[in-house]
Amino acid sequence: MGSRAHRILLIEDTAPLARLYIEFMRAEGHKVAHAETGREALAAAEACPPDGVILDLKLPDMEGLDVLRILRERDPDVSVIVVTAHGSVGVAVEAMRCGAFDFLVKPFTADRLNVTLRNALERRSLARMVDDYRRDLDRDRFHGFIGASPEMQAVYRTIESVAASRASVFITGESGTGKEVAAEAIHQASPRRGKPFVALNSAAIPKDLLESEIFGHVRGAFTGATADRVGAAAQADGGTLFLDEVCEMPFDLQAKLLRFIQTGVIQPVGSSRAEKVDVRFVAATNRDPLREVEEGRFREDLYYRLHVIPLHLPPLRDRGGDVLLIARALLADCAREEGRRFTAFAPEVEAAFRSCDWPGNIRQMQNVVRQIVVLHDGEVVTADMLPPPLRGGGASTRRAAVLPAAAQAASPADPAAEETITPLWRLEKDMIQRALRLCSDDVPRAASLLEISPSTIYRKLQQWKADGDGGEG
Ligand SMILES: Nc1ncnc2c1ncn2[C@@H]1O[C@H](COP(=O)(O)OP(=O)(O)OP(=O)(O)O)[C@@H](O)[C@H]1O
Ligand SMILES: [Mg+2]
Repeated sequence: MGSRAHRILLIEDTAPLARLYIEFMRAEGHKVAHAETGREALAAAEACPPDGVILDLKLPDMEGLDVLRILRERDPDVSVIVVTAHGSVGVAVEAMRCGAFDFLVKPFTADRLNVTLRNALERRSLARMVDDYRRDLDRDRFHGFIGASPEMQAVYRTIESVAASRASVFITGESGTGKEVAAEAIHQASPRRGKPFVALNSAAIPKDLLESEIFGHVRGAFTGATADRVGAAAQADGGTLFLDEVCEMPFDLQAKLLRFIQTGVIQPVGSSRAEKVDVRFVAATNRDPLREVEEGRFREDLYYRLHVIPLHLPPLRDRGGDVLLIARALLADCAREEGRRFTAFAPEVEAAFRSCDWPGNIRQMQNVVRQIVVLHDGEVVTADMLPPPLRGGGASTRRAAVLPAAAQAASPADPAAEETITPLWRLEKDMIQRALRLCSDDVPRAASLLEISPSTIYRKLQQWKADGDGGEG
């Protein structure tokens, strides 16, 4: 067995017996913590999870079996040896049924205790080894992710290995690849999981409000600040602050963010009081952050502060069979939500999915599947149900179009006027404005149909406004 001393938690309320057992176990080189009551034991186990537990079933404050149950709920691999008085073997059997590893009947010798304990620890280390192997095996789900490809296994491993630390993680990847899913997974896999995960999207919040969104403000700090407001940084205290679309943050605010990262101190807008907060930073962008630095839009010093651990999410088209794993899961979810019978894709549909480029990645696939399920019913999704960019295969599946069929038919992108060439930005603007009109200015819905993220639309709207154009076509 390993060379590290094992941590044993002894739960025994009779002091002389406890002293004796501790002596037995220390002689074997174990580290022993002692608790006299069930409550004390549970607190000790929480503060420092033991490798093995010796549990006297008769405790002053709780049922021994309840302590056993709670310990095993917290850690199913924990080896618990129960101790019972002579003549109460029935309880010991009951304890075994509840998952105790073995039992000892009082009085017992040092040998008997240590042999039982050794077996228990052996079993635990085997269980751990199995766990480790399982972890190294390919997983097809990990927190919010679906995917078994080697590319995603690497993502899962990175998340797992950085989760415990406080180091900043910088997530890159195309739109819709799961950057937010990754940020949440980092939080959930970390010791901070019991504290808040707060996402702050720099692209979705008007620039002049962003500082107060991050740092909070006091009443009267500016027109409209009618009450104190706690910012994202303070809300995330003890937890994780996710700086989404961080490259969109205005340059001057980047300096304030940098100071916050360096000092852990925030100053709400309009306040003279500084507050200390403890957050772990995760940042994301779908841009190339180094290029943003080179072109002077993103502060180099901030980049290096945040870019401690890079995590890149591969585009969906590079994830092999994951395309179908995700598609099938989406189909099942969608069918259930929409009350449809779909259970599978026809082979030619799966082939079309596999060969599609998915420029909008998983979000685009969600929209395609949703569209199919809403517009059709049946048990199998057949090729005729596919929206046009996927139908027909071949070259047309490359670079799937941005708008779904209905919106495309009469869109300005329709190549009816083949003679004239319109600038790309103009086409994009027209398309977005048209989608907004068709969706009665419901940005998330328009974004969903355009298969882009709502933040992209917000960003464009801001940009057009800044360019001195109200945004109507
Ligand atoms: N591997 C995956 N398995 C299942 N669902 C996924 C996976 N990756 C992402 N999703 C889902 O796809 C959608 C988009 O993911 P997410 O918002 O995390 O992407 P993003 O990279 O932040 O996109 P953007 O750059 O547009 O903000 C979400 O609904 C998310 O739950
Ligand atoms: Mg995102």
